[in-house]
Amino acid sequence: MRLRAIVYFSSAVHRLTNSELEHLLMQSRHANALAEITGVLLVHERRFIQCIEGPPLAVSRTFERIRASRLHRHIITVLDRPIAFRDFAEWSMGLARPSTSDFLALWSARWQAVLESGSIAPAEGDGMALLKAFWSLTGGGANPF
Ligand SMILES: Cc1cc2nc3c(=O)[nH]c(=O)nc-3n(C[C@H](O)[C@H](O)[C@H](O)COP(=O)(O)O)c2cc1C
Repeated sequence: MRLRAIVYFSSAVHRLTNSELEHLLMQSRHANALAEITGVLLVHERRFIQCIEGPPLAVSRTFERIRASRLHRHIITVLDRPIAFRDFAEWSMGLARPSTSDFLALWSARWQAVLESGSIAPAEGDGMALLKAFWSLTGGGANPF
């Protein structure tokens, strides 16, 4: 099956409360499970980094919905590429709250550059490699609320 991944950054219009975030996550997980979308959402103060992966058309439709949300703005796509397999296959939408330093490392990482160079090996400073490393260390299981 062909798969596509998108990573974007955005800024919330206001700092979401835990219950707003929980509501957003429930909605997203429900829609993603139906659309065969998996991924992770990282939240730090008012900033979001999200990765969505799945069948190309489902990824487009989901990203349209995400872009249309009034909860955030300044949406910047930092990665959009075909993938051979899912990196977050067990997560209809995982959530983590990175520390400031972890979040800044992800925010300032190189993302699309890896595709442009034609390289698929994770380079030092490569955003996707950092995101996977971060998630394998701190994501999955811990209750972020
Ligand atoms: C940070 C963020 C992440 C989102 N992630 C997803 C997602 O993974 N899947 C999805 O279907 N919708 C996602 N959405 C969209 C919401 O589920 C919902 O459709 C949207 O917030 C409703 O729009 P409104 O807030 O403008 O009423 C996301 C929205 C935001 C702000």
